[in-house]
Amino acid sequence: MSLSTVPNSTSEAGPQVDVESSRAWWQQAVVYQIYPRSFADSNADGIGDLRGIVSRIDYLTKLGIDAVWLSPFYPSGWADGGYDVADYRNVDPRFGTLEDFDLLVQSLHAVGIRIMVDLVPNHSSRLHPWFVEALAAGPGSPERDRYIFRDGRGVDGSLPPNDWPSHWGPQGWTRVEDGQWYLHFFSPDQPDFNWDNAEVRQEFEHTIRFWADRGVDGFRVDVAHGLVKDMSEPYQHFTSFSPLLTPTDGSHPLFDRDDVHEIYRGWRAIFEAYDPPRMAVAEAAVPAERIPLYASSDGLNQAFNFDLLFTEWSAAEFRTAISTNLDIASSSGSPSTWVLSNHDCVRHASRYALPPGTDRNAWLLASGREPSEDRSTGQSRARAAIMLLLALPGSAYLYQGEELGLFEVANLDVATLLDPVWTRTLHTEKGRDGCRVPLPWRAATDNFGFSAGASPLHQPGWFADFAVDAQEADQSSTLALYRAAISLRKQLQGRDVLAWVDTADEDVLHFTRPGGWQSITNFGSSPVPLPVGKVLLSSGPLLDGLLPADTTAWLTSTA
Ligand code: BGC
Repeated sequence: MSLSTVPNSTSEAGPQVDVESSRAWWQQAVVYQIYPRSFADSNADGIGDLRGIVSRIDYLTKLGIDAVWLSPFYPSGWADGGYDVADYRNVDPRFGTLEDFDLLVQSLHAVGIRIMVDLVPNHSSRLHPWFVEALAAGPGSPERDRYIFRDGRGVDGSLPPNDWPSHWGPQGWTRVEDGQWYLHFFSPDQPDFNWDNAEVRQEFEHTIRFWADRGVDGFRVDVAHGLVKDMSEPYQHFTSFSPLLTPTDGSHPLFDRDDVHEIYRGWRAIFEAYDPPRMAVAEAAVPAERIPLYASSDGLNQAFNFDLLFTEWSAAEFRTAISTNLDIASSSGSPSTWVLSNHDCVRHASRYALPPGTDRNAWLLASGREPSEDRSTGQSRARAAIMLLLALPGSAYLYQGEELGLFEVANLDVATLLDPVWTRTLHTEKGRDGCRVPLPWRAATDNFGFSAGASPLHQPGWFADFAVDAQEADQSSTLALYRAAISLRKQLQGRDVLAWVDTADEDVLHFTRPGGWQSITNFGSSPVPLPVGKVLLSSGPLLDGLLPADTTAWLTSTA
């Protein structure tokens, strides 16, 4: 794969940054998300595992990341890729053992990489012993009170307690044999906990200590907006899970209720008992103005900003998303987080390769026939976007495979799909498997070096062009660009502010950063002049001293 050149080496970097305190290491960190099932397999069963990650420490070191965020690796029914946990304080045998986990922590720490794990507190698996006990113990029992069970409506209770929907499905309630119903935000395999129950609260405090004691540096809190629910009757009516339609005053019955922060204040006290204090980042699908509540210093510390997942390739849209989140960051006191891709969305190289306004779900469903991606454009934009993102103040969350420039695997055989979205939506949404296909490590090896055994999610032939070994041999590859940009960012990143530079061209986004450097991105279709300064790095080749379309460059602020 030959794309473009990276014109200047990192040795030409400008001024050095302030040294970050270890206490706040997360504030400007580059965090790399590993989806363990599809990263690297050490035992030939076709499933990635913890020892597989250990075998790639060198790769992670060369990438230059500060931390790994590990998606769930706990025993699970795998009804939702591990986000249905059956035992919060153990390792799924398919991924390894607790000893393997300890080895992973030691191996990462030995090379200066921190580790964050996923905490899934809104719901467990249906296989969790507590849920099994709740079913056995029957209505009204203390065991049942750990979850949210209610009687149904109608003379025989055969109607659900209310009309609440679930994600990916019309009904948020499932009936059990004795006639009661339990609530689930997500699939019926993921019953919601009752956070009014003291045992539930104690259990999670225990779990946090368990992993923090094992050396975990931070936690990503799944569905952080959902734990506390107003189950008082009459039930409130709602139909949508969209954060945009959620009231901003904490009055929705299921999401973003003010009381949830009491839980996080309790967790913060636990986090602060460690040295350095443990950090946490909230996955909170809430309106922008509510994010500071989750990112506060007496709460979780940090909250995801997902705006760039939904931002079209346009200078104006990017500027709005960036400005809004920098404002939020200054009101919360917690630097923003930036994300282009994760395990829940279409990979950004594909998003930028689709014509504007494309319905991504319709594209996924149709893509078995004729891919409509313009891959060359997608690739240039993805490269420009990551350099723009890495130039921003705050922390950057990367998703495995984006550093290889991977596109979505859109034409997976539907018979192989693993994501519950496909079945829960009655085959109207293909789901998230296309970004969860195992990584290609070696172009000319079976299963591209991911495993000696085939994965259930089949890697397409074009993965060969994106394999790590192919990219390591190519100075202009996307992998080489990520390595250079992350390394350079480390030298440049200073105070967490930026100053916009207004340009005559509305397709150009230009800003300066403290310490004497600047970033400029051309979202338009023709080349534009570069500002005065020495070019440190660019996402593609410059054109007679001009910045071509779909390209970002970093420069010193003075000649
Ligand atoms: C995770 C998803 C998961 C859902 C339910 C989300 O926030 O990122 O992958 O399906 O939570 O746990």
